[in-house]
Amino acid sequence: MWHTSRSFFRTMRRGSMSRQILVTSALPYANGPIHLGHLVEYIQTDIWVRFQRLRGNRCIYVCADDAHGTPIMLKARELGITPEELIERIGREHQQDFADFLIEFDNYYSTHSEENRYYAELIYQRLRDAGHITSRTIKQAYDPVENMFLPDRYIKGDCPRCGAAEQYGDSCEVCGATYTPAELRNAVSVVSGATPVDKESEHYFFRLQDFGDMLRTWAGDGHVQGEVANKLNEWFEDGLREWDISRDSPYFGFRIPGTEDKYFYVWLDAPIGYMASFSNWCEQHGEDFDAWWRPDTDTELYHFIGKDIVYFHALFWPAMLEGAGFRKPTRICAHGFLTVNGQKMSKSRGTFIMGRTYLNHLNPEYLRYYLAAKMGSSVHDLDLSLDDFIQRVNSDLVGKLVNIASRSASFINKRFDGRLADHLEAPELYRTVTARGEQIARHYEDREFSRAIREIMALADEANQYFDERKPWVLAKDAETLERVQLICTQTLNVFRVLMTYLKPVVPRIAARAEAFLQIPEQTWSDATEPLLDHTIGRFEPLATRVARESVDAMLEESRETLAPKAETTPTGPLADNPIAEQIEIGDFGKVDLRIARISKAAQVDGADKLLQLTLDLGGETRTVFAGIRAAYEPADLEGKLTVMVANLKPRKMRFGVSEGMVLAAGPGGKDLFILEPDNGAEPGMKVK
Ligand code: 2FM
Ligand code: ZN
Repeated sequence: MWHTSRSFFRTMRRGSMSRQILVTSALPYANGPIHLGHLVEYIQTDIWVRFQRLRGNRCIYVCADDAHGTPIMLKARELGITPEELIERIGREHQQDFADFLIEFDNYYSTHSEENRYYAELIYQRLRDAGHITSRTIKQAYDPVENMFLPDRYIKGDCPRCGAAEQYGDSCEVCGATYTPAELRNAVSVVSGATPVDKESEHYFFRLQDFGDMLRTWAGDGHVQGEVANKLNEWFEDGLREWDISRDSPYFGFRIPGTEDKYFYVWLDAPIGYMASFSNWCEQHGEDFDAWWRPDTDTELYHFIGKDIVYFHALFWPAMLEGAGFRKPTRICAHGFLTVNGQKMSKSRGTFIMGRTYLNHLNPEYLRYYLAAKMGSSVHDLDLSLDDFIQRVNSDLVGKLVNIASRSASFINKRFDGRLADHLEAPELYRTVTARGEQIARHYEDREFSRAIREIMALADEANQYFDERKPWVLAKDAETLERVQLICTQTLNVFRVLMTYLKPVVPRIAARAEAFLQIPEQTWSDATEPLLDHTIGRFEPLATRVARESVDAMLEESRETLAPKAETTPTGPLADNPIAEQIEIGDFGKVDLRIARISKAAQVDGADKLLQLTLDLGGETRTVFAGIRAAYEPADLEGKLTVMVANLKPRKMRFGVSEGMVLAAGPGGKDLFILEPDNGAEPGMKVK
């Protein structure tokens, strides 16, 4: 009988006007922790999802770990565990981090799942049957020691254009040249240190060019931001080319059906992971997967991603979906990168901050609030300026919004037994606030969160001004005017309640505490229209406290510490008293930039009997280094001598100043420590090989 079907009841429950929206964030790789750069996206998505739910829409948010590929295979090998163990461990950490930042997924899954295998194979087979897959033999760099093909990032050598050492197989970070690994000079495999050889193998390709017309129409149809559409047009002009979707064994991924040892490239099955996670959710909730993924569905599909992966999401992904008979995304929402204090996140400055390190010192809702207050819908980068972070959280979130509640509630609690008045003293102020609701909602919908927050804070200013002008603290002293105090505080608490509801997608925990203290049920957007009158509120508990600068400093300090090299040694063999340090890869050694330097000045350091302050001439650049060689040398004897220095050591702040490198000396120590003598043909600045 039609009216007893599950979908009928679901429609009734939802109400006929509610949208059905499936939302995803990009799947983080399962080989490392979540950092603040990642969190921009999850926080942005989560705010949007919570907003949709608050508006009464049905919004399902899924994600997963991106578990396949060479880096994960090699990382597991390095740790001496299986890839399955690694992705299990990292998956758990990721989920805990997300939960602690109040990111509320409906389902968090893994691309290494049976559902993902099923959909990857299905999509591949449909594409193949429709003639969109080809194969041919290509030549690639191969590591003859590890017996594996090498992705570009696993080959290093000298740049063919500028000669810079230690450059990756695809591009030079020094001069910006792009090239093929074969063009790199003195190339080595990062995995084994061996010289790569060329080797042929058969690869499978997805014919992206078959979808050119569809993609042009789709991209021009408002499914991507304007800036992204422009980028896509450049790519269309360049011409679409086939995409290599296979990798040879050894590889951690899914074997391609009909082959012995070919695997799907990680980027083939990664976006399919969105479907897999959703399918897993459908399984648990009795939902019809196909109703959301068939081409004529009226459900919506939103992908939140970083601007660096637009190519995959706005070209390959819609083409794969179209070719395999599935719906295409409603919208790709790309965002920019995070900078900290105006610069790229940096390990030496302590601004490469892991989510967990942040949580060790600061409240997750402060980051959510700050990022939202600066976030728009464009692909521009977003800056976390730590001074501004402290200032905005303290003066806006705590100083303006929470302050309305704390100052008003204390009168209501103490003088009126928690009871709110039975009418509003300034209904026009309340109307102003509720009338802004639709505009604020539009900003959220358009992902213009900073605009939404600006409006909310402007209304908070109005409420505080209303309170200040009426001076309830004076009125409370006089029995004749006491009644007005109740009216004033009822008024401001009503404004607070509405503003808190507007801000609920951003600071859900503070909002939940506010609901608890106001003794009201979970609010939805439309609850704002009716004021809260003749109602007893609970005792006010501080909803949010100020950020202390010390906490921010401690977070930076911990970020530096967690990344400092560990000085552990392995005491074995004949060198047990002076053990050889833990083994490193040749690639690690290659990172050490050793240079000849002339000691132009050497001086004693007050208060440090083992140190000398050396001024080093690197042939055009001067460095200050504090070296523990005072017992071996008189300062004057060192001046003019050459030494070898580690030129790319991160500057270290010491008690006496910043040390900008390290000089190398050999010997048993104490008086017997030797540095290079001059006259061996070395010149300052020369690279030591
Ligand atoms: O760039 C990345 O971090 C990828 N792991 C994102 C994958 S998103 C999706 F396609 F799965
Ligand atoms: Zn170069």
